[in-house]
Amino acid sequence: MGNLDSSGGFQQSGHSHALLLLLLLASGAEAFRICAFNAQRLTLPKVAREPVMDTLVLILARCDIMVLQEVVDPTGSAIPLLLRELNRLDDSGPYSSLSSPLLGRSTYKEKYVYIYRSHKTQVLDSYVYDDKDDLFAREPFVGQFSLPSKVLPSLVLVPLHTTPKAVEMELNALYDVFLDASQHWQSKDVILLGDFNADCGSLTQKRLDSLVLRTQAGFQWAIADGVDTTVRASTHCTYDRIVLHGERCQGLLRSAAAFHFPRSFGLTEEEALNISDHYPVEVELNRAGHRLPCLSLATVLLPSLLLLPLLPPQLGLVA
Ligand SMILES: *[C@@H]1O[C@H](CO)[C@@H](O)[C@H](O)[C@H]1NC(C)=O
Repeated sequence: MGNLDSSGGFQQSGHSHALLLLLLLASGAEAFRICAFNAQRLTLPKVAREPVMDTLVLILARCDIMVLQEVVDPTGSAIPLLLRELNRLDDSGPYSSLSSPLLGRSTYKEKYVYIYRSHKTQVLDSYVYDDKDDLFAREPFVGQFSLPSKVLPSLVLVPLHTTPKAVEMELNALYDVFLDASQHWQSKDVILLGDFNADCGSLTQKRLDSLVLRTQAGFQWAIADGVDTTVRASTHCTYDRIVLHGERCQGLLRSAAAFHFPRSFGLTEEEALNISDHYPVEVELNRAGHRLPCLSLATVLLPSLLLLPLLPPQLGLVA
């Protein structure tokens, strides 16, 4: 596998630099991507299979912070192996990881794992939510991260993988986790994310609409109802979600989508299901607010854009 480009694969040469600059102008500066992925029973034997590893590396390399869920790894060696291969195959790292303890009520336990580009972001602090009333099958492993943005120097992440049996209760309890984390770090800028099972057989539209996270003002459900986050052609459910809170955080939102990795990587449904039955979900944050960049960036870059055709290719800008 060749080197990957975190920005999504611009491998430009010579005269296409002008096009690249135009794209940059259109999209603003480089974005910061936060992802959540239910990697479906991620074990060491699964990670060690080459097609699985290769695809996971490609998925992870898209993200500045990834929240992996359903990591079932009692030996604790799946993530170090994954991280080693990610750092070997992708040069836009280095990447680091932070795992929660194994969480679960029975012998079946899962971990949440953050994988992040450590030259762009750092874990400032983290804790497992104190789930006194045992409301969660897998209580959120909340983290505070630094961000390369003057507008928003830090951000709180609240991941959750609900159990399909108690989606409504867990998602209402998630509001209390939001309050707890928000108070803990004195921050309104919080992203709640993960496989909420918030659709289809697990949660009716009526119950979804009556969740506290829906009725309370201030929460933006970036992955909207109707987005398919499932791999199977026979299912169409918005299980995986990203919810933004805080004006600064919401002001930086550039895009939100499920990442259709089978289509992007040319995998059949069967091959894709060997990775997961879920798509990753992703949000892109701008580094600066919406009001600033467009005009000022154009003013700065326009002269160089006009000069580009005059330059020999090897002197052109490097992406
Ligand atoms: C899925 O993984 C299994 C176990 O490694 C393998 O035998 C099978 O061929 C894979 N299926 C596809 C379609 O890649």
